[in-house]
Amino acid sequence: MKIVTIVGARPQFIKIAAVSRKLRARHQEILVHTGQHYDYEMSGAFFDGLELPPPNVNLGVGSGSHAAQTGAMLTGIEDVLLAESPDCLLIYGDTNSTLAGALASSKLSIPVVHVEAGLRSFNRSMPEEINRVVADHLSDLLLCPSDTAVSNLAMEGITENVHLVGDVMLDALNWAKERSVEAENACLKGFGLKRKEYLIATLHRSENTDDRTRFQGILETFNSLHEPVLFPVHPRARKIINEINFRPQPNLHLIDPVGYLEMVALVSAARLVLTDSGGLQKEAYWLGVPCVTLRNETEWVETVEAGWNVLVGSEPERIAQTVKSFTPPVARPFLYGDGTAAEKCVDLIGLKSEPMALVGRA
Ligand code: UD1
Ligand code: UDP
Repeated sequence: MKIVTIVGARPQFIKIAAVSRKLRARHQEILVHTGQHYDYEMSGAFFDGLELPPPNVNLGVGSGSHAAQTGAMLTGIEDVLLAESPDCLLIYGDTNSTLAGALASSKLSIPVVHVEAGLRSFNRSMPEEINRVVADHLSDLLLCPSDTAVSNLAMEGITENVHLVGDVMLDALNWAKERSVEAENACLKGFGLKRKEYLIATLHRSENTDDRTRFQGILETFNSLHEPVLFPVHPRARKIINEINFRPQPNLHLIDPVGYLEMVALVSAARLVLTDSGGLQKEAYWLGVPCVTLRNETEWVETVEAGWNVLVGSEPERIAQTVKSFTPPVARPFLYGDGTAAEKCVDLIGLKSEPMALVGRA
């Protein structure tokens, strides 16, 4: 089978690290990088660190408004699909690259496979929620990480070709965990940190960064914490930090984004995670690190139900209090599969290949 895979943003490079190796053992993969993320720290570092095959095509779309970025991706992806005539298109998650892939492919009647289907925050002011809903409704094979995701799809009337496979990010994490052990000492030493005596923070959701008062409030809270905070800064956040001329206290270390193996090492050794990232909420859980999520809702509700993740929004006092007092239970049940999601995805893609039926189409 010939499969075109669309990626463009940091978490998608981590997801293909789990799936592409297995996919390529059985099928021909044409890897298309939209160019949504382009800084070396946000893109190249993952291809190098995760030993990924280089993209066959880089559309070089770069940053822009949602419409400009998605529109440029649509044209570029359509050209690739017309040239390659693949058997199906594979998309991951909920970024603009995901949306563009789903739209371009479905309009050409090329079946769409969505990995990480069915997640919902039920907050349509998030661009990602729009991307997920549209991508799921255009997909012909929906590969879900959780029972909740399967139920979310059912609530929207999507029940055909929906499969629970687990989360491919767990597969990626298992691959990285062993390899990151060596990185841990070097990372901690490099940043002058001690195991379990610091917090690690990431922020990049537009709801947090683009509201200056909210973002400044969060940064000032980080400044006021009585423990070292290591904050690898996403370029979206860096832009605003520079614009508002924010001055970190000595305990708050603003650093460039780090590679995945370094990140896994730094999260494993942290006392607690502070984040608005989707991927990081799960990684914190799998690594047994308490997570304080700076959002009002999450797609990864199971981590909250298990008592290891707490949603605090952006209110400074609440963040500071929770950081001090949050203590998860001892029990940490398995969530999001057993680390074999990638294999299951590839099996299901193979089964659908003869030829993959287009849902709801003749
Ligand atoms: C995107 C995804 C989000 C995902 C995140 C992962 C959408 C709508 N959002 O958000 O779901 O969680 O990626 O990190 O697709 N920039 C750079 N260099 C880069 C990339 C971005 O400087 O390599 C800056 C640009 O100023 C850009 C801004 O970051 O305008 C935002 O980038 P963009 O890809 O539009 O959205 P993210 O916030 O990264
Ligand atoms: N990550 C990383 N380096 C960093 C910050 C994050 O490797 O400096 C990893 C993190 O461990 C997780 C993924 O990037 O696997 C999450 O990506 P991001 O937060 O950008 O996107 P989201 O998951 O929210 O879509």
